[in-house]
Amino acid sequence: MSSSYDLCEGNVNHITSWVVVMRGCARFCITVHLGQIQGTDFEKQLRTEIKRHTISVLQGSTPSYEPHHSICKLCLPLLLELARTKSVSGLSLEDFVNAPNYNLELVGNGSQARILGGETCSYAPVLDLCPMKLTDIPRVCRKELPLFYARSIRANIDNQDPLGTTQGRISTIDGRIMYFKPRESAREQQFDRELQILLLIKSRGLIERHTRVPCIQGVVISGSSTVDEAELDDQGQCIGVLLNFVPLGMSLLSPQYWDLHSLHEKWELQVTEILEELHANDVIWGDVNPGNVVIDESMDAWVIDFGGMNNPEFVDDGNAESIAGDWQGVRRLFREWLPRRRLNIPL
Ligand SMILES: Nc1ncnc2c1ncn2[C@@H]1O[C@H](COP(=O)(O)OP(=O)(O)OP(=O)(O)O)[C@@H](O)[C@H]1O
Ligand SMILES: [Mg+2]
Repeated sequence: MSSSYDLCEGNVNHITSWVVVMRGCARFCITVHLGQIQGTDFEKQLRTEIKRHTISVLQGSTPSYEPHHSICKLCLPLLLELARTKSVSGLSLEDFVNAPNYNLELVGNGSQARILGGETCSYAPVLDLCPMKLTDIPRVCRKELPLFYARSIRANIDNQDPLGTTQGRISTIDGRIMYFKPRESAREQQFDRELQILLLIKSRGLIERHTRVPCIQGVVISGSSTVDEAELDDQGQCIGVLLNFVPLGMSLLSPQYWDLHSLHEKWELQVTEILEELHANDVIWGDVNPGNVVIDESMDAWVIDFGGMNNPEFVDDGNAESIAGDWQGVRRLFREWLPRRRLNIPL
């Protein structure tokens, strides 16, 4: 993998191949119709690599994504020119909402392949961000929650990791650290469910009672930089919510917790207490799984993620989003899954 770009997705075959790559917050979709580069040196190279790639996929071995990277590398000088830096540090969330998008295409030019499309840039959300009209979010949200402007929020995305999402730790302009949960395409329903529940948790005062569940801090809105903030309150778009940041915040999926047998009972008890309180306040967790139990720096368990989307490994589909389902999930998580992880028994 090259360090100059992040390969996000792609598909290669002998007719039309495409890759999507990001550099910084710029997104490039590169298409290659093999017929269009016929006779070029690159066509020969690509056909050989596609053949090798296809065989390795069919054999079930880990593909090297050689043809994908060859397409990227051919375009690299242009990518470097159009997106000056790969670093995303210092970028605001707004930079990801109005990010440069390029559609590039390779065509033949004698024995050389050349790239079309570099002169046309459009601006659109990247990393699956799916903004919704602010007026479409519940009125209570707009009335009771602070609005944060995406342009004033610094995305603390780890530069080492390939870009996949804007979700994660952020800092506000006045230096507060919070957790950004974006509204992503194909997950709109989950976002809506979680928003409703976070509002319910807030209105029932669960946080004041020190229940370890995320507390909604505000709604993040995006809009043109030429529009002042008062207008944005009416015309802006909601791109996600801010939650309190759980320090350390690693989930039970992290192997470092699997050996800590003496703490497993405590975490089961803590999750049970949180769940009793949630149920008593008409909240169903709806997605019990180890990724949704987070351990903080004091080694206490938190219950997170109210997006629903039942995980059938823990809750039978017939029990999805029910009180019985939540208890079934907790039982399987702490009595079956975690002990198996601890003893290294395959699941
Ligand atoms: N408020 C928070 N503070 C710190 N870390 C968090 C917080 N919320 C989530 N995380 C971290 O992010 C991970 C994913 O969070 P969450 O489950 O809410 O997201 P998701 O998009 O629904 O993910 P998935 O689809 O994997 O369930 C958690 O396992 C945890 O490590
Ligand atoms: Mg989750």
